[in-house]
Amino acid sequence: MTQTLLVLGSANADLVVEVGRRPAGGETVLGGDTVVLPGGKGANTAVAAARVGASVALVGAVGGDGYGSLLRESLESSGVDTALVKTSSRPTGIAYITVTPDGENSIVVSPGANFDVSPSDVDGLSFEGAQVLTCSLEVPLETVVRAIGAASGAGVRTVLNLSPVAELPAETLRQLTVLVVNEHEAAQLAPDWSDLLALGPDSAIVTLGARGAAVVQRSGVVEVPAVEVAEVVDTTGAGDAFAGALSARLAEGDDLVKAAKYAAKVAALSVTKAGAQPSYPTAAEVG
Ligand code: RIB
Repeated sequence: MTQTLLVLGSANADLVVEVGRRPAGGETVLGGDTVVLPGGKGANTAVAAARVGASVALVGAVGGDGYGSLLRESLESSGVDTALVKTSSRPTGIAYITVTPDGENSIVVSPGANFDVSPSDVDGLSFEGAQVLTCSLEVPLETVVRAIGAASGAGVRTVLNLSPVAELPAETLRQLTVLVVNEHEAAQLAPDWSDLLALGPDSAIVTLGARGAAVVQRSGVVEVPAVEVAEVVDTTGAGDAFAGALSARLAEGDDLVKAAKYAAKVAALSVTKAGAQPSYPTAAEVG
């Protein structure tokens, strides 16, 4: 492997519909036309990193269907190496996404091929040349656990975007260089941000949406201010944009606070356009 950043995670076709408001149980609401966009937390992270200049490979799976082709095309046109994206006999993962006028989203994921990414897919991975491994959790937990263990054993820094939240083995938490969570996820894990480090990771980042992020290290908590944007169009994939840009800068040698400041800018720009991957800025656009 020649890439400095390795991303392990999902690739989904995002079926997006704009709604005035979300239906309650048993209720039907009408929305706009469905738009199909490339998404998935892993693919989003890899694309966000590649757009800002990282040399990145994705480890994942898609189906041998049209949505799989859509994802491969988006990854490859952004410069992500897809040699480690396998074609599964299961259908490509699909995310059913509603977006309300305030730009907020809610998502149901049907994992499909993503649940075919197995520990044996990471057993043969070479970490030669890799600086950072970044994972998220829409692929089987045991695969993520195996990958983090292998990367940490090979001296590669590990970033875990703990989304969606899952219970991790204590050893895996200790093998993390950076645990990335949003404030809801953080609240499920620990009563206080600084207690996140007691779980085992070297450091943690709590993303705070429009309020920026908090970088938690043994030396203390550094608040990274938000970057203001004129209009929030769609927040889908903003957390993945943050994780991708953060990982890209860490692989380039930035310290955690500097990398988080850059990632906050990338995440802010991503909410000004519709969709996940189509909304991610290039390094020139970040400035
Ligand atoms: O984080 C946003 C992503 O979550 C979407 O692209 C969707 O595919 C789900 O994985």
